[in-house]
Amino acid sequence: MPSNDQKTILITGGAGFVGSHLCDRLLSAGHRVISLDNFHTGRRTNHHRHLSNPNFRLIDADIAAPLPEMAVDEIYNLACPASPVHYQESPITTLRTNLLGAVNVLELAVSQRARVLQASTSEVYGDPLIHPQTEDYFGNVNSFGERACYDEGKRAAEALFHAYEQERGADIRIARIFNTYGPRMQHDDGRVVSNFVVQALRQQPITLYGDGSQTRSFCFVDDLVDGLVRLMASDVKTPVNLGNPNEFTMIELAGLVMELTGSRSSVTHLPLPSDDPKRRRPDIAKAERLLGWTPTIPLAAGLPLTIAFFRDALTAGGELVPSPDDAFPYQMSAE
Ligand SMILES: NC(=O)c1ccc[n+]([C@@H]2O[C@H](COP(=O)([O-])OP(=O)(O)OC[C@H]3O[C@@H](n4cnc5c(N)ncnc54)[C@H](O)[C@@H]3O)[C@@H](O)[C@H]2O)c1
Repeated sequence: MPSNDQKTILITGGAGFVGSHLCDRLLSAGHRVISLDNFHTGRRTNHHRHLSNPNFRLIDADIAAPLPEMAVDEIYNLACPASPVHYQESPITTLRTNLLGAVNVLELAVSQRARVLQASTSEVYGDPLIHPQTEDYFGNVNSFGERACYDEGKRAAEALFHAYEQERGADIRIARIFNTYGPRMQHDDGRVVSNFVVQALRQQPITLYGDGSQTRSFCFVDDLVDGLVRLMASDVKTPVNLGNPNEFTMIELAGLVMELTGSRSSVTHLPLPSDDPKRRRPDIAKAERLLGWTPTIPLAAGLPLTIAFFRDALTAGGELVPSPDDAFPYQMSAE
């Protein structure tokens, strides 16, 4: 790449699931990438592939604390625990990351005249009353519930991005990300794809919440990364939905996972968690029109790649061990 096309790009949360794939993509395009992460939910192993690249730098820091001054052209603000089990562990930490983190990232962006993209979320729509969700829907969010630290934190972060654009001229982009899955998800983060795949591989009962008729749409991580990069390169300063509009019930997802893993797991039903949205599907007309972006990887293609990752990870980690005493080929070792 000619050096004048090479950018220095900060990714907060670069050691996480999405962040590490974004590092792959930007490094392979020849950019200099700085990953800033406090490893709250991210993993150092996600950066093993990057460490030998001279264009890669890792900073172990918390975005809720003032950030070191650094020369950057673009910032992707991904730092935030993304799954309920992690963001509900400490709601105050989640709110600090979303609020103080956004302020610190925006201050850096303004001082560096860097373009800054916020990883927002479909959770800003809460339990939506319209379907599918368009960007102009204001949402149905509970500010006083279990998910408020994340949902309201992300909403306030969007408001901060808007305020910094209005008052300080920040060059902002906002991606409202819907459920994304793929290799390098954490196996224990309680997200439905990783839950089902790991339970199926371990021959444990698959946990369905409620009657399993609630729907989600699943975007493969490579598609999402492509959308984020396109949004950053665009001139669209208002929120844009990024997600795959193909909708599946949880029963359908469980069936597909069982089929692709060849699992003999049974299915167990648990009560629906409070504030759990019943339906969630993005309207991506804006991304299609303004970014020329549409997801290309169907669940039937992305799921086998995700299953292969978990199969390798669980086997290499020794978490799946053959047991002569067990009717199933594998059992879970003590964790
Ligand atoms: N994966 C999805 O389906 C999804 C959906 C909607 C939105 N998002 C958003 O995308 C972003 C990335 O999500 P992910 O799935 O990769 O989650 P993840 O938990 O794998 O990654 C988040 C990363 O942020 C880091 N982090 C958390 N708090 C931090 C702090 N205070 N300072 C520095 N680093 C911190 C974590 O250590 C981790 O590496 C998040 O902002 C999330 O809210 C993800």
